[in-house]
Formats: sequence, structure tokens, C-alpha cells
Amino acid sequence: MSSFFFNFFIFFLGIIELGNAKFHFKGQKKYPTVYVDPSGHGKFVTIQSAIDSIPQNNQYWICIIIKPGQYREQVKIPREKPYIYLKGDKNGEVIVTWDAHGSIDTDATFTTEANNTIVESITFINSYNYPPKRNKHPRVVAVAVVISGDKCVFYKCKFLGFQDTLWDVQGRHYFKFCTIEGAVDFIFGNGKSIYENCTISVNAGALNGLIGYITAHGRENVNDTSGFVFKNCNVIGNGQIFLGRPWRQYARVLFYDSSMSNVITPQGWDVGVFGGKEKQLTFAEERCKGMGSNTSKRVLWKAILSKHELQHLISLSFIDNEGWIVKQPLNVLK
Ligand SMILES: *[C@@H]1O[C@H](CO)[C@@H](O)[C@H](O)[C@H]1NC(C)=O
Ligand SMILES: *[C@@H]1O[C@H](CO)[C@@H](O)[C@H](O)[C@H]1NC(C)=O
Ligand SMILES: *[C@@H]1O[C@H](CO)[C@@H](O)[C@H](O)[C@H]1NC(C)=O
Ligand SMILES: *[C@@H]1O[C@H](CO)[C@@H](O)[C@H](O)[C@H]1NC(C)=O
Repeated sequence: MSSFFFNFFIFFLGIIELGNAKFHFKGQKKYPTVYVDPSGHGKFVTIQSAIDSIPQNNQYWICIIIKPGQYREQVKIPREKPYIYLKGDKNGEVIVTWDAHGSIDTDATFTTEANNTIVESITFINSYNYPPKRNKHPRVVAVAVVISGDKCVFYKCKFLGFQDTLWDVQGRHYFKFCTIEGAVDFIFGNGKSIYENCTISVNAGALNGLIGYITAHGRENVNDTSGFVFKNCNVIGNGQIFLGRPWRQYARVLFYDSSMSNVITPQGWDVGVFGGKEKQLTFAEERCKGMGSNTSKRVLWKAILSKHELQHLISLSFIDNEGWIVKQPLNVLK
């Protein structure tokens, strides 16, 4: 409790310093913090009740620190609650599990619709088909995380599922040191995202011989600026998988400077239902290494990027040409 009030004190000092303007605090300490602790020592026993306590149209960063443990709850940050920084306590793993399935819209374990969401050190699982080994349920859509706000950062998080694990719906997102696991379309949506130093963990071995898909990007229009960029990532796991298939007809995905184990099927990419529209797809690989990165048997229509387009996609300005990331309280670029 005392640290709660201490942080509020610092928070009000911050307001006095900066007047009434909308602002972002820099640094680690200058925002109010509330605690989630199922044993009752914090103010809240569930993550959702802490989120519910934050006023709508919140304009200041507020940190929710979550004690290590297993949380069985469905968690949602609605679009009227920006500037929430959800943080797993350093002393152990915070695991949030739910098992709703069948719909991408309502069933995710964790959803954020809000702009300026930060999530650090939290594992999200959709357990309906996970872990897939010895799982008795039929394989269905079972989303772990949905991100539809703009300017969201995920740091040291895990997203675990089997089919449709992570719906990166839309907006600019930065993922660093995260693990995303699944077998079928497990990173999908129309997000404009950089995944940096992430582990892409393939569990397609449980597909009984079928080949899975890592990505299903949803770029719809030639003028749409979205795309998934995987930079310095590590693709590992079991079974066989394509790097991606299009969800929409202008899908754009780049694997850059990444390492790929032999889980990647030699053709690399699948055209899905867009046969004849291969030229509209931008599926590219540059500077990758590892057994799975051998492009000698790749589909002939995989994209060759111009130097300019490659630079555009791999630089941070692809998602952040206005400096929003360094304005957030977590310094992920250090
Ligand atoms: C979130 O950000 C987007 C893009 O910057 C903006 O269009 C939208 O109005 C914002 N949403 C809210 C609820 O402020
Ligand atoms: C894309 O942008 C160009 C140039 O602004 C415009 O002429 C074209 O109609 C746009 N295409 C679509 C499908 O929106
Ligand atoms: C990110 O990944 C690259 C390539 O695997 C590696 O060289 C680099 O050290 C990593 N960065 C950090 C901070 O771990
Ligand atoms: C890539 O695969 C081809 C055919 O399977 C093989 O001949 C070639 O040596 C491989 N290249 C590398 C760099 O391993």
C-alpha cells in the first residue's frame, strides 16, 4: 500500500511539473502503480479487476504489476483505456490461461483494443488445444492474444497456442524477446509489426503429417502500409511448416537476418486461395541462415525486395517514424 501512495505522489509531482498538457512520463518510476496479488496482499486479486479500476479515457501511464502465478481469467483492455503498462513481477512467471475457442472475435485469453499498451513478462495461453501433445480436443481456432490498438509494445512475453495463437489485427506493434508458438496461421492479421529477437516456436509435429503455416497476413490493398517483419528471430520446433500463406491478397511478410531450423518446408510459402495473384504478395527472406533457410526449392514467386523496400521494412521507422516507442515508460530499445 505505501508504495502505491508513494507512486501516486510521484505521479502528481509529474503533473505539477508538466502542467495540464497530455504527456508521457519517461523513465521507470514516474507513474502510478497498482498490484495484482491473488493472495490478497495487493489491491486486486485478478488482472481484470485492476484494469476495470482505471478510468475511461485515461491519459496517463499507469502500471499494473502482477505477482507470479497462474491466472485463470480472460483479460481485456477496452479501447477507452490507453496507457496501461501490464507487467509481470520479476520474481517468477505470470501465466494467464483461458480456453475459449471457435471465434477469433470473442475468445482470446488476452485482448487489447487500446492504443499505447505495454505488456512485459507475461505468458498468455489458450489451453483448448495446448499443449498439443496428448490433447483430446479437435483442432479449432483458439486465440491466445488479440492486439488491435495502435502503438503497442510486447516485451519478454509468450503467446502459446496451436491454431491462430496471435491475432495481430491492426496498428503498429513492436515485439521484443517474445516467444510465439503454434502450428496453423499462428501469427495472423493486418498488423504493421516488427518482431525482433523473438522465438517462433513451431509445434506442427502434432498436425499428424499436415504442413502448418506460421503467418497469415491480412494486407488487403496495394496502398495499405501493413506488414509483418521478423528481424533477428529464431524459428525452431517440430513438424513441417510454411513461413506463410496470405489471408488477404496483398499480404506482406519479411524474414530478415533470422535463423530457421529444418521445420521450414522447402517451398517456403503457400499461395493459399490466391492462386494467380502471386505477384501481389510480398513474401520475402533476406540474410537468413540455418537448415530451413535454403531457398533452392522455394516457390518461384517469392518476392525479391529492392534495396529501398528492404531498408524501409527493417528500420524501426517502419513502425515508428515519430518516436512513440522512446516516449513510453519501458525503454525497449536499450
Ligand atoms: C488509436 O490510434 C489510432 C491511430 O493513431 C487513431 O486513429 C484512433 O482514433 C485511436 N483510438 C482511440 C480510441 O483514441
Ligand atoms: C492507391 O493509391 C493510388 C495513388 O494515391 C490511387 O491512385 C489508387 O486508387 C489507390 N488504390 C486503391 C485500391 O485504393
Ligand atoms: C538479437 O539477435 C541477434 C541475432 O540472433 C543476436 O546477434 C543479438 O545478440 C540479439 N540481441 C540481443 C540483445 O540479444
Ligand atoms: C540447398 O539445397 C540444395 C538442394 O537440396 C543443395 O544442393 C544445396 O547444397 C543446399 N545449399 C546449402 C547452402 O546448404
